[in-house]
Amino acid sequence: MAYNPREDRWDRGNPLGRPLTAPLSSTRVHNLIIAIDGPAASGKSTTARLVADRLGYVYIDSGAMYRAAALRAIRLHVCLENRERLGRVAEDAEIGLENGGRGAVTLDGEDVTEAIRAPEVTAASSIMSTVPAVRRALVRRQREIGESVDSVVEGRDIGTVVFPDADLKIYLVASIEERARRRHAELAARGTEADLDAIAREIEERDRRDSTRTDSPLRRADDAVLVDTTGLSIAEQVDKVVSLAIARGARAEERGGASEH
Ligand code: CDP
Repeated sequence: MAYNPREDRWDRGNPLGRPLTAPLSSTRVHNLIIAIDGPAASGKSTTARLVADRLGYVYIDSGAMYRAAALRAIRLHVCLENRERLGRVAEDAEIGLENGGRGAVTLDGEDVTEAIRAPEVTAASSIMSTVPAVRRALVRRQREIGESVDSVVEGRDIGTVVFPDADLKIYLVASIEERARRRHAELAARGTEADLDAIAREIEERDRRDSTRTDSPLRRADDAVLVDTTGLSIAEQVDKVVSLAIARGARAEERGGASEH
């Protein structure tokens, strides 16, 4: 990875003196990255996890990092308007993604896997992710992981900012009704009852904030493949992404299990 100051982004392909060969493969010139972006509750996590399983790639949940940083701010009683302090809260956070976020998510040594899914953390993560210093701190960590292993990375800015040269970019969308239903079911499975209309409003508010922020707004990269999951089953959307990945050079189940991070 080389930093391109004119465009304020990182370019892969001409790393700073590092060999191009990925450490885990002797046949590839670089590790493969599949970027999955899209609005809230569009099916990114489910799709990304299952695609990673099928390909034997590491799954990286970038949203879990924003959520963990937000939880840290809440616990430290940092006002969400104090943008300068929020930057430091994220920089100093020790965030661990066991298995890229598939296993436990830890914050400063504590397991926060469940805590980061609480509605107040969701709302705070949306506000915190508008702060450039927060994004800088977390994007750096996402690149460190994605640079070293074949991975499926999900988020809002993966194909546009974090890995602009990703081998495959997917932009997932679904209707607001469908997304609210999915999030409602997900929360119910965790024992959190919530009103369907309130969830729809919350999702729309986060989408609005994500798409209108100045730093790394949510948008489809020009070269991303648009996949509307509204009428698709999970198996269908996973099959679709896996076939696209194979067409771009991925080999299904090339390596067993994912590495730990
Ligand atoms: O699963 P859901 O779509 O509800 O959210 P998430 O992916 O866990 O992300 C939580 C919040 O972090 C989002 O509302 C975004 O504001 C922010 N985020 C971001 O700004 N950039 C990313 N790459 C990932 C998440």
